[in-house]
Amino acid sequence: MSALPRRRLRRLRDRASIRDMVRETKLSMSDFIYPLFIAERPEDAGPVPSMPGVSRLGLDDLDGEIERIASRGIRAVLLFGIPAVKDAAGSASHDENGVIPKAIRRIRGLRDDLAIVTDVCLCEYTEHGHCGLLREGRIDNDATNGILCRIALAHAAAGADLVAPSAMMDAMVAAIRGALDAAGRSDVGILSYAVKYASSFYGPFRDAVACAPKFGDRRGHQMDPANAREALAEAALDVAEGADMLMVKPALAYLDVIAAVRRRFPDHPLAAYQVSGEYSMIKAAAANGWLDERRVVLESLLAIKRAGADIIISYFAKDVADYLPQ
Ligand code: PBG
Repeated sequence: MSALPRRRLRRLRDRASIRDMVRETKLSMSDFIYPLFIAERPEDAGPVPSMPGVSRLGLDDLDGEIERIASRGIRAVLLFGIPAVKDAAGSASHDENGVIPKAIRRIRGLRDDLAIVTDVCLCEYTEHGHCGLLREGRIDNDATNGILCRIALAHAAAGADLVAPSAMMDAMVAAIRGALDAAGRSDVGILSYAVKYASSFYGPFRDAVACAPKFGDRRGHQMDPANAREALAEAALDVAEGADMLMVKPALAYLDVIAAVRRRFPDHPLAAYQVSGEYSMIKAAAANGWLDERRVVLESLLAIKRAGADIIISYFAKDVADYLPQ
């Protein structure tokens, strides 16, 4: 008997064709959802300085952008709105003729094969930048759920396939499921931001849609980055409330949480959101020549999928089309 091990793993690594054959995790364009920021007023459109390569689009920019997205093989978009007017109650959020319903109808008219997912939250629409209705300076959870239902209904009426509530209110998924069903919209699904942390990686996004809270922060509703067991409790509640898909957000700093949710809820599709700060960090390092953008992007996306995500929401989705073998 030889003293050397019989199994030599390097045998399968030397040749690229064999490496590809034994690769466990693969990325494909159907894994991705591409976020879009849509401004109601044309003058609010334009590049987002802290997110090179990402722009706020005017409604008229959608025609060209949707064509570019679809031609790269992207199959789904996630819409965020920048309304013309913000107020204390975020009333523009559930206007059936608001920026997102208008965008949904426009996109539907352009491509019927694209899945349309919409962010359902108040922070883009409130002048104070909080994700809910305030009463004496604090978020009123259940009153906020009532508004989230109206937002979901407005998006469903315009033609959204999935609504993605991101406000982290307790029982929001049950409320929205009930409202959709009561309105005869049992066909519209819920991609729940089940596990959303109070993360500093959202910084560039808050520039993009001008939704940073004017006072305080979001630690009263988003999760404490120190907690992983609580993530399973959040996900369990959303599953019980009727979520069709779950999400963990951000992605790279929470790979353990993605893996844990995947293990505990094996039969729910799991999405992970590679958020604005994750995007901007890579962009900044690459612009300085410190990292190889293509390789680092693919490595991070692969890590997110290897941890257990089926779906990745990423601002890099358009670039990935150039990176993946055809
Ligand atoms: C809230 C929302 C946020 C993001 C998505 N939905 C911001 C927040 O919670 O402060 C962040 C996304 C990103 O950073 O890319 N509607």
